[in-house]
Formats: sequence, structure tokens, C-alpha cells
Amino acid sequence: LKSNMLIDKHFVISSVDKRIYGSFIEHLGRAVYGGIYEPDHPTADQQGFRQDAIEAIKALQVPIIRYPGGNFVSGYNWEDGVGPKEQRKRLLELAWWTTETNEVGTNEFADWAKLVGTEVMMAVNLGTRGIDAARNLVEYCNHPSGSYWSDLRISHGYKEPHRFKTWCLGNEMDGPWQIGAKTAEEYGRIANETAKAMKWVDPTIELVACGSSSSGMSTFGYWEDTVLDLCYEQVDYLSLHAYYNNNNNDTANFLASSMNLDHFISSVASISDAVQAKKRSKKKLMLSLDEWNVWKTIGSSRAEERWQIAPPEFEDVYTHEDALALGCYLITILRHADRVKVACLAQLINVIAPIMTERNGALWLQTTYYPFLHASKYGRGKALQAIIDSPKYDSKDYTDVPYLEAISVHDEEQDIITIFAVNRHLSEQMELDVDLRSFGNVSLLEHIVLEHDDLKAINTKDAPDNVVPHNGGKTTIDQANVKALLSKASWNVIRLQ
Ligand code: AHR
Repeated sequence: LKSNMLIDKHFVISSVDKRIYGSFIEHLGRAVYGGIYEPDHPTADQQGFRQDAIEAIKALQVPIIRYPGGNFVSGYNWEDGVGPKEQRKRLLELAWWTTETNEVGTNEFADWAKLVGTEVMMAVNLGTRGIDAARNLVEYCNHPSGSYWSDLRISHGYKEPHRFKTWCLGNEMDGPWQIGAKTAEEYGRIANETAKAMKWVDPTIELVACGSSSSGMSTFGYWEDTVLDLCYEQVDYLSLHAYYNNNNNDTANFLASSMNLDHFISSVASISDAVQAKKRSKKKLMLSLDEWNVWKTIGSSRAEERWQIAPPEFEDVYTHEDALALGCYLITILRHADRVKVACLAQLINVIAPIMTERNGALWLQTTYYPFLHASKYGRGKALQAIIDSPKYDSKDYTDVPYLEAISVHDEEQDIITIFAVNRHLSEQMELDVDLRSFGNVSLLEHIVLEHDDLKAINTKDAPDNVVPHNGGKTTIDQANVKALLSKASWNVIRLQ
């Protein structure tokens, strides 16, 4: 199995917006309570935040985290989560049928975000609420002082405004499961009017309108077109959500699912550009893939017993093949670096997440942690359009699937070229020849590999190092020609200088 790749420093797709390595923490399952926040955990700080979780998240260098939902936000009264903790209400939470204690709210999350060095991507409730609650929340969070809501924040101990920059106008408003779901016309209007008011309070914010919950929604396409027709000039991004799994146990087909993501992104960009053309607008809208991941328990019902506090939910256990698929999605996102400016791996901890914790106990990293870590650490700079020649295969849902999924990123400051590559072949290694002619002579910094003989191998609390990357990838270099051996079913990070 042989593939070729030509990389030229002048074939620039775009600078990579670091926010594509964002993630998501929702008031769902044990993401907040028992994930980032567990006051009686041995590593908890004074505010109750688990230090072990902070360290694992810091290592990922996640630049932005979406909060507080997800479906949760569509029933959330943000006022219930601020002010003295002892006065906070316990409420029935209708997105997930749990009891929300409101121990963690906007200010606590802002504090936590500072500790991990990330920005907050706030979402407002356009399910049960609307313009008024949204503009008040912007005033509470971002206005310096001298108004009711900003002074209330100050009275809660937060003199400095949070200055949250990126805001989601609701969540998955096209989904019948959403509290307060809307038609495209209803949502487009409320998004437009809410956006106006929020930007009047703080003109520096950027807004994300909800696109479809998945490309499989019956309203997909019509939704984007109609919503943008109604709010195009007021918003800065359109969202996409995409989840995949191998529940049919067809790995070749599963690893090809990044082609679906690729098509989804291109389609949404096209619809957006069509609206731009119709409106004769100068503005090109960017995309926010603000939920994406492998999700196996998708569609499974909410907790069987209602109104529990933070019951374990959607604690998917990720395999080696899931990590490979995740690598393919990351490469796909990078290939669209000119349009996708924000992307959030959904989610970050305990709920469909790369990081798992045990109550009062250990933290371990799932297989999917590693490709995300590598992309976030090394995938910054300029994404380059590579010319790839790879043998192909057909699978159940996809034709002409290249065995090689790859891209490269050029960090101009340090003059480091990083190649991310997945060998999708399940039984054969691949010889990859890379022509880097425009870079002159290069030398190898490292070739990181994530591989495992068992596609279903997992990491657990007791065997946390079963699937971990190593540095022993086989790459040789002759001037500007790189020859790499990519093991069967492997994720590779080849770093050159
Ligand atoms: O990420 C889990 C859920 O998936 C989110 O709450 C929702 O937006 C999506 O359906």
C-alpha cells in the first residue's frame, strides 16, 4: 500500500483559528458535578474544582469551552446560578430529567475557565426564554458597572466583567427534543431580534446562530436557508452538530464517516454563500462546528429514574478505532480551516468525553484524548492544501474512500511542519512518500504513532495506558523527501523542521 503527498508552503487553505480545538461542558450527567466540580474530592480546591481534571484539561490547551448547554440551556434561568450559593434553587431540569442544584453557575464557570486558561463560549436560552433574559445576561457578564445587572454581578463578588466574546443563540432549536423547539421561521426571527439586543448591550460580542442538529434532520438545508435569510446580517457564525458511531460494527465504513462531515461542512458553507449572494451582502459567514464527536449512546433515553442529581449519563467508552475516526474528523476540520473557525469536541469530561473521572477517585484518559491533544498542540499555524494520491476503497455508505487521510499544518513562527495522517487500512501498513520541495532540507523532530492490534482496545481506570501514543514511528528523510511507514489502522503525527 503506497501513497504520495505533495506539500507546498504556498498552498495555504487558511490560518488555523485555534478555537477549532474548543470543547464543551454541559450541565449533563457528571460533566459539571463529579467532573470538574467535586468539593469533597481529595484534589478539590477551595471552590470545589478537581485539580486533577484541571491538569488534564490544561494539557489539552483547549482555547474555548461552550457552556452551559446543549439541551440544558433551553430550560435554564441563568439568574438561578448566580449569587449566594445557599440561596440557590434546586429545580427540576427538563432536558435530562434531573435535579439541578445550581451549585455551579456562570461566575463559578468563569473562575474555572480562568484556571484552565480557556475562553467561555456562552449560550443563551431561546427555548423557554428570549430577548430579555439574553440581553440581561450580556449586561450581567460584560457590562463594566453602573447598571442594575452589572452592579448585581459586582455585588456577587465579580468586580471585573467576564467579557465573554462568543455567544450561541440557543441550541439545536430545530430538534423536537428541544425545550421550546421552533420552526425555521420562528427561530430566524427570534435569533435576529435577540442578536440585535445583545449587540446593542455589547457591540464587541460575536454570535452563533443555530444550524441543523445534524445533516440527517428532515429540515436540513431548508433550515439553514430560512434562518439565515432572517438573521444573516446580525450573526457571525452558523452552527453545525455532527456525531458518528460504529454501532453497526463496520469499521471500514465508520472510518469513512469523516467524508460525511466533509460534505456536511461544504454544504452548509454553500447554503450560507447562496444566502449571501441573494442578499448581495459583503459578509461571508463563518461556521461553528460546536458539537462533534463519536457518540455511541446517542438516542438512548434520559436517566431511567427521574430527578436524580448528576446521574452518570452517556459515559461512552472509546476504543482505538474511535480514536482513529476522531483523527479523521480533526483532519477534515483542518481542511475546512477557511470556514470553520470554532469547533467544540462534545464533550470534555465524563459525558461522551476524552477524560473520565471516578467519584472520589481516579481520573483517566480515553483513547480519543490523544489525537485531540496532538492536533491542539501541533495543529496551529497555516493549514496547507496537500495534493494526495492514495489507493481507495468503497464501503457501505461511501465510495472512493482514500486509505490515507492526511493534512499538514505549517507553524511559520517556529518553521515546523506537522503532518497528521490516518492509515485507514485495517490490515496493511502504508508507505507514505511526502514531497516537501518548497521547504528545502528538513529534518525529523518526531513521528508519534497511536496504534493497537485490537481495534476495540480501550483505556480503563485500571488499565489507563492500554492505548497510548509512542514516539517510535518509522520516518526517514532525504533532503526534502520524507518516507514514512504508517502502521495499519494508525494515527500519525510527523513533525519536521
Ligand atoms: O452533547 C450532548 C447533547 O447533544 C447536547 O445537549 C445537544 O445539543 C446534542 O443533542
